[in-house]
Amino acid sequence: MLRALTAAAALLIASAGPALAAGDAEHPHDHRFSFDSPLGGYDMGAVQRGFQVYQQVCAACHGMDHLAYRHLGERGGPFALYMVRNHETGELEPHVGKPAHGGAFVDVTENPYVRAIAAGVMISDVDPNTGEIVDRPGRISDRFRRPFPNEIAARAANGGAYPADLSVITAARHGGADYVYALLTGYTGESEGALYENPYFAGHMIAMPPPLAEGSVAYSDGSPGTVEQYAADVTHFLQWATDPHMEERKRLGVVVLAFLIVLSGLLYLSYKHVWRNESH
Ligand code: HEC
Repeated sequence: MLRALTAAAALLIASAGPALAAGDAEHPHDHRFSFDSPLGGYDMGAVQRGFQVYQQVCAACHGMDHLAYRHLGERGGPFALYMVRNHETGELEPHVGKPAHGGAFVDVTENPYVRAIAAGVMISDVDPNTGEIVDRPGRISDRFRRPFPNEIAARAANGGAYPADLSVITAARHGGADYVYALLTGYTGESEGALYENPYFAGHMIAMPPPLAEGSVAYSDGSPGTVEQYAADVTHFLQWATDPHMEERKRLGVVVLAFLIVLSGLLYLSYKHVWRNESH
């Protein structure tokens, strides 16, 4: 009996070993995001600012291959355009992001904000006349610009490390949005050569230099220019990119639940009705 127990204990310890080794990164704290709760949606202001942080900072090294510029202006996107009637003047006015009530959605092909975002990016493309690779201004149908033509070039520019595609990063990493936020705010300030200490990264040394610094992105809505604010906003944007239909899904969940509750009530009443003359 004792021997069986010892063997079982030894087995347990042996199987826990590799798990402990892989899990040496510190567990990220639970950061509060508006999308955490079962009914919570995205804070579109945060998603808009987060896109700005991605565009001005992260896009130098990380691509987001799954995203095209037009996605930013589709329903549920951070730069979706709506025309809303102003009750005082009676005029229709543009409103970026879904208004609290009403508003007519403007198709993304007619959305000047998204067009401007795309046109502000230079995309490498094949010139249809000469067959040469040229840079041209982006179109809304373009995928997000790739910072490097391929993985070899990306590694060469980053000391051998690969800056992962961020399209679905919050789904691809254990800890999701909390991990990304903790990583971005978790640098200790210590470094060794081209590696920076960060307890949230497996191995504790990461080849990404601290990407955010106080004041490095200028917000136009008065939000503070702190590392924590940038990190929270860009994480919000990355979560939206990973799961752009979350709000619809949660809304549908509520409708389905309400339907099931009504259905249970009806079934109960019909049961009562069918058995009304029977004594049990
Ligand atoms: C100068 C280039 C550079 C910039 C700018 C940069 N990164 Fe990185 N990033 C890297 C590299 C290189 C790695 C891989 C590090 C490693 O493997 O040691 C990395 C890794 C990461 C990881 C970890 C991925 C994983 O495998 O767990 C995340 C998340 C990340 N970056 C997010 C961001 C965000 C968000 C921004 C913008 C605020 C940003 N990065 C800006 C180069 C960069």
